[in-house]
Amino acid sequence: MSRRLLLLAAGLQLSSLVSGQTIVVDGTEVDANANNVAPAEEVLATGDLLPEESVQLTDAVLANLTEIALSDADLFAFADDEEAGDTSIQEKRTINLKCKTFPGDALWPHNIAWTVLDLLTGGRLIKTVPIAASCYNNFGVFNAAKCNSVSSSWTDSYMHEADPTSVMSPLYQGLTCMPTTNPAGQCTLGGFPSYVVRAGNVAHIQLAINFARNLNLRLVVKNTGHDFNGRSVGAGALSIWTTEFKSIDYLKTYKTKSYSGPALKVGAGVIGIELYQAAEQYGVTAVGGEGMTVGFAGGYLAGGGHSPMSPMYGMGADQILSLEVVTPDGHFITASETQNTEVFWAMRGGGGSTFGVATSYTVKVYPKLNVASVAKFTFGTSATVSYETFWEGVRAYLESIPTYNAKSNYEYWNIWHTGPGANDLQALLAPLLTKLAALGINVTPEYSQHDSFYKAWSAGFPKELVGGSAAKTTGRLFPTENFVNAAKFNTTVTALKSIVDRGGELLGFGITGGPGPFPDNAVNPAWRDTALFAIAVRTWAEGTPLSEVATLSADMTANWMQPWRDAAPNSGAYASESDVTEPNFKQSFYGTAKYARLLALKKKIDPTGLFYANLAVGSDEWYVQGQYPGLPTQNGRLCRV
Ligand SMILES: Cc1cc2nc3c(=O)[nH]c(=O)nc-3n(C[C@H](O)[C@H](O)[C@H](O)COP(=O)(O)OP(=O)(O)OC[C@H]3O[C@@H](n4cnc5c(N)ncnc54)[C@H](O)[C@@H]3O)c2cc1C
Ligand SMILES: *[C@@H]1O[C@H](CO)[C@@H](O)[C@H](O)[C@H]1NC(C)=O
Ligand SMILES: *[C@@H]1O[C@H](CO)[C@@H](O)[C@H](O)[C@H]1NC(C)=O
Repeated sequence: MSRRLLLLAAGLQLSSLVSGQTIVVDGTEVDANANNVAPAEEVLATGDLLPEESVQLTDAVLANLTEIALSDADLFAFADDEEAGDTSIQEKRTINLKCKTFPGDALWPHNIAWTVLDLLTGGRLIKTVPIAASCYNNFGVFNAAKCNSVSSSWTDSYMHEADPTSVMSPLYQGLTCMPTTNPAGQCTLGGFPSYVVRAGNVAHIQLAINFARNLNLRLVVKNTGHDFNGRSVGAGALSIWTTEFKSIDYLKTYKTKSYSGPALKVGAGVIGIELYQAAEQYGVTAVGGEGMTVGFAGGYLAGGGHSPMSPMYGMGADQILSLEVVTPDGHFITASETQNTEVFWAMRGGGGSTFGVATSYTVKVYPKLNVASVAKFTFGTSATVSYETFWEGVRAYLESIPTYNAKSNYEYWNIWHTGPGANDLQALLAPLLTKLAALGINVTPEYSQHDSFYKAWSAGFPKELVGGSAAKTTGRLFPTENFVNAAKFNTTVTALKSIVDRGGELLGFGITGGPGPFPDNAVNPAWRDTALFAIAVRTWAEGTPLSEVATLSADMTANWMQPWRDAAPNSGAYASESDVTEPNFKQSFYGTAKYARLLALKKKIDPTGLFYANLAVGSDEWYVQGQYPGLPTQNGRLCRV
């Protein structure tokens, strides 16, 4: 079988795209099939990379693949590949196009181009079938048993994670193919991508990136699909699915200019529980999220990443020592303190789906915790506890936040403590319990003590339910001054309470962004003063028309959230758990100065705007067509403003 091959003859010529696509091998036009197109694999043995990273697309491999180039550009060429064509022409072409090429357009790649992508990736191209398509007749895959199983597992994050395109906040996909008992309804792709490359190695990611860039396609990246705001889907897109990047290497002594100690090199597809199990096995503590199935080296680290360990060690992104990434030009690079330093700075907090596709991160880890204590309690209104009294109780908790933060505590529904011991945690909580008792709120915490973070985490955090489609979440980072200044404290309590008064729900994390000193990276500066991260949730009836949802959504942003912004005007919000229509997002998510620096890098390394995600750096230069104001779903063509 020949592994040289190819080329997509007139494939790129804008004028003759549809009719002219053929492949030519050694000068002869042939079918694109497995005999003629071999997967692009070039094994570079290097001990520093994960197994998934050893197969790369290099100029040499590409030269073999594209031996015969009949057009002035090649579907799989790197952005700066002189031989493959005039990059500047290619880029100008894309820059001048107002919108990304969309299914049905004359320029949409012919089937043969998709076939070649499939063959080169060794059969890893998937044509999207929405996860609930089996519930409908119109998609041609009706299957009552499968539909039942999808419906009954809808809140299970593992199910969405295992699907190539499903996401756990389906509202921003456009709700165009939800589970139903009415098979006569219509299931459409909506905001789901058209195709997915299930990446198993770096070369697959590079092929997908080059293909999308050279053909002016929208590109999205999906890891687990946990994103709150639809950032892992996009209509008419080619998606890169990173879930198979599961390797974790333990590096007993990892040395950089500024660090010498244990580290984990973690593949892009690793999720929270896998990270913690590995850390437990190696006898170390990793700084990861609270969520069991949330990706670690995907959106979490790229967005900054808050952790039960943050009050002790800082944000997830503060632990990054080095990272591997495929940049928008298709090249695979290492970014660290000494190499590609600006990318290194940006990808520690500056957001996912913006600067490239990360394939792994190497992160600091810490000694095993010998004592990790957890206390869980709940209290609520009752026959003897009025709503106002309940809020006095919440107020008493909020008053204690500076004390808890000073002890590196972490609270999320539960009171979480990583310190000397359970006795300490009881002592720490005693004043609060006394205050609650005085209000007639009697609480008996359930204490437990563990000899590692993993065990405490397992005890403290059950797997969360996902899949809700009739809710919007927003959030704000509240700084310490809001808890120590009496007037500001009152404003803060009133602001938090106002959400519940209006019928909304609240989630709170008593957390800090770390003790410092802080590394110079792109983590939102608002995190550094944070004492409380609060999330507000507004729900509505299932089935509410999107036009109405848009009104509720806009109202929540403008009116519900104004008291939060007024209470903490100089702070910000956490992009990864935020309002899909956050006002002034540049300041709020990134800080004004950091945003300017991030944008300069974005323009430099992604001049064609290959990577787009809602409210990501540079995203305000784009919009998704056909949206209700206030409800930016990803169901529409992506165009330049
Ligand atoms: C139940 C739940 C619990 C959570 N708990 C926490 C928590 O404790 N702490 C916290 O900080 N956050 C938490 N989050 C938020 C979480 O960090 C974000 O949703 C994060 O973006 C998820 O990343 P992912 O890779 O799993 O998801 P995805 O939806 O697959 O990806 C999220 C974003 O990152 C991009 N992306 C993914 N992989 C890559 C990659 N390899 N390279 C480049 N871009 C990539 C995607 O394109 C998308 O824009 C939680 C979310 C949920 C739903
Ligand atoms: C390119 O093809 C030639 C001839 O088949 C082969 O000898 C060489 O190893 C290939 N190079 C790469 C990088 O694949
Ligand atoms: C804050 O509110 C409490 C009661 O809720 C009140 O007693 C106190 O005077 C207020 N403090 C300030 C500074 O406004």
